[in-house]
Amino acid sequence: MIDGKLIDTKINFAILASGAGSNADKICSYFKDHPHIQVNLIISNNINAGVLQVAASHGIESIVIPKSSWATPEIVLPDLRTKEITHIVLAGFLLLIPSWLVHEFKGHIINIHPALLPKYGGKGMYGHHVHEKVKLSGDVISGITIHEVNEKYDEGDILFQKEINIDPEDSADQIAAKVLEIEHYYYPRIIEQWVLGKNL
Ligand code: GAR
Repeated sequence: MIDGKLIDTKINFAILASGAGSNADKICSYFKDHPHIQVNLIISNNINAGVLQVAASHGIESIVIPKSSWATPEIVLPDLRTKEITHIVLAGFLLLIPSWLVHEFKGHIINIHPALLPKYGGKGMYGHHVHEKVKLSGDVISGITIHEVNEKYDEGDILFQKEINIDPEDSADQIAAKVLEIEHYYYPRIIEQWVLGKNL
């Protein structure tokens, strides 16, 4: 039962990722035996992405869609339709989501960013680039932002933020490790609440 309604089929979401896929790994584990929600597809733009091994290790189907194909709905949509995808989760996906996809999945695309937006967001601000900027700034806190996705990098409505403390001696890599640790804990849980339509 969800909010008094009997749900007999699972809600399917897709993960889009470009890199190692450590968040995807945690998300797949979290939803492995979930009664209402499942990861049904993993898509990468990068044939060498570690996330493809993550998908295989969880027995989840994965496909590679290269950068040049994302402008073409006729290439991207059939797999999403076949797998009955209703929600899209970005986990280290580095391409800008095309506006046709934002409209097709309006309000149903979520992203995690490894800083406290609106600081350190925008084009080119991903992964270690973010943590190096934070280190250079001398900020004493950083953190994570989970937000809905619109046509611009890192500008959709913010759903959740969590801070971490930075010690003056922390390197950019140490800041990255602290941030990744809380991403792994919070992202699956926030995805669950978001998919189920709970207030965040
Ligand atoms: C994560 O830290 C995620 O927040 C970041 O990429 C990393 C992916 O790591 N995303 C961005 O920077 C998006 N602007 P993972 O592949 O190990 O999950």
